[in-house]
Amino acid sequence: MTTTSEPRVIEPLAGPLDGSCHVPGDKSISHRAILFSAMAEGTSRLLGVLDSSDVRASIEAVQKLGAKVSLEKQPDGSLAGGVEGWGEAGPTQPDTPIYCANSGTTARLLMGVLAPWDISVRIEGDESLSKRPMRRITAPLMKMGVEFDPAGAETLPITEHGCKNLKAITYNSPMASAQLKTAVLLAGVYADGVTELNEPSVSRNHTELMLPEYGVETTAGERTARVVGPAKMHSAEIQVPGDPSSAAFITCAALLKPGSAVQIENVSLNTARTGFLITLEKMGADVTTRRTGSSGKEPYGIISACHTGRLHGCEIPGHKIASLVDEVPVLSLVAAHAQGLTVFRNVEELRAKESDRLDAIVTGLAQLGVDAWTEGDDLFIEGQPDLKVPEGLVFDSRGDHRLAMTWSLVGLTGNVPVKVTNFDSVDVSYPDFLRDMEELVR
Ligand code: S3P
Repeated sequence: MTTTSEPRVIEPLAGPLDGSCHVPGDKSISHRAILFSAMAEGTSRLLGVLDSSDVRASIEAVQKLGAKVSLEKQPDGSLAGGVEGWGEAGPTQPDTPIYCANSGTTARLLMGVLAPWDISVRIEGDESLSKRPMRRITAPLMKMGVEFDPAGAETLPITEHGCKNLKAITYNSPMASAQLKTAVLLAGVYADGVTELNEPSVSRNHTELMLPEYGVETTAGERTARVVGPAKMHSAEIQVPGDPSSAAFITCAALLKPGSAVQIENVSLNTARTGFLITLEKMGADVTTRRTGSSGKEPYGIISACHTGRLHGCEIPGHKIASLVDEVPVLSLVAAHAQGLTVFRNVEELRAKESDRLDAIVTGLAQLGVDAWTEGDDLFIEGQPDLKVPEGLVFDSRGDHRLAMTWSLVGLTGNVPVKVTNFDSVDVSYPDFLRDMEELVR
């Protein structure tokens, strides 16, 4: 995300974080609810949709393709209302490119959405998205019959030419990526037969859980997902639970700020997303969860977290990284305060996020005087339980929302202010992040 605002001064919170709160709707589920509703016949009803710049990119994309979106802002800040899909008629040919801004999920899932239709669409993104790898998505879709221009393009902009007679495939994905898996499964909805995707470790499974709500038969095993096509998608009612990736920032802030005790309600407790809580428990943190309900097949509940004085380092194996992939920056900050070494194995995917998050973590922790380094694809952090934050630090968010929130926690939970460049990038996933943190301090 490219913004040009002055670095934001982040002052220490006036006291401990205390009490209950909600976080905005889950970003991954919100994108899927909008895209799947646009594909379906009839009007779907959505509740609790995240209102953020990333999700707005998906809304604008489906509107451009002919879906009618009547989502309205609710008093709690979420979006709710109807999405009337194109169903069997298919999307309309847009006369200008679809701009996905900073949203990798929009661009990559859209490639699966467009695959079965006889239209040509140019997909574009901002400076950051235009550097992110796209061959991982175009390669399997080409095997199904989709054409891309340029055919071997690694990055956006790319023009996609859909294919009316998609072939069902079995694809062995080289990486655990839910975006890749979803693009292939969405194309598979319209292919004749079973489309199967095998992945090296388990990635988030919101697509497999949500597609049946729209009438599509899916089966999901440990590292395999299948969809049976051709299927007719009908409208659905989806309630989006709170985003665990946003809740991770409040959880970690409570662990680091002395005297804190918070409960975050109605958060998705899907185990493909809560790896950060298991890691924090391994580090000795006082965190617990309690399931209170489910929305479709998505479980949700309460995360409780209390300040924990003595944290210790731990090792996170490679096959668990997908369950906490977006939380590695904030977990690295917690690891910087823990006793001993923390090792994240096989975190190469972090180099391909909204910025090179591995490099950003090592650089930002060095500013704090913490030793962090990479060896091959592993990340090492030598924690300092008595870490004293130097005065006058300016962290570079690199226009990356998760880095902006991670580095702002240094100021919020410490004793001296810090500055964070391009702080407004938090709009991508959690626009009211600072307000929510301040409201927890009474
Ligand atoms: C997402 C999947 C993950 C995650 C991203 C959202 C999704 O990316 O990092 O923020 O909604 O499917 P990958 O699929 O590339 O791992």
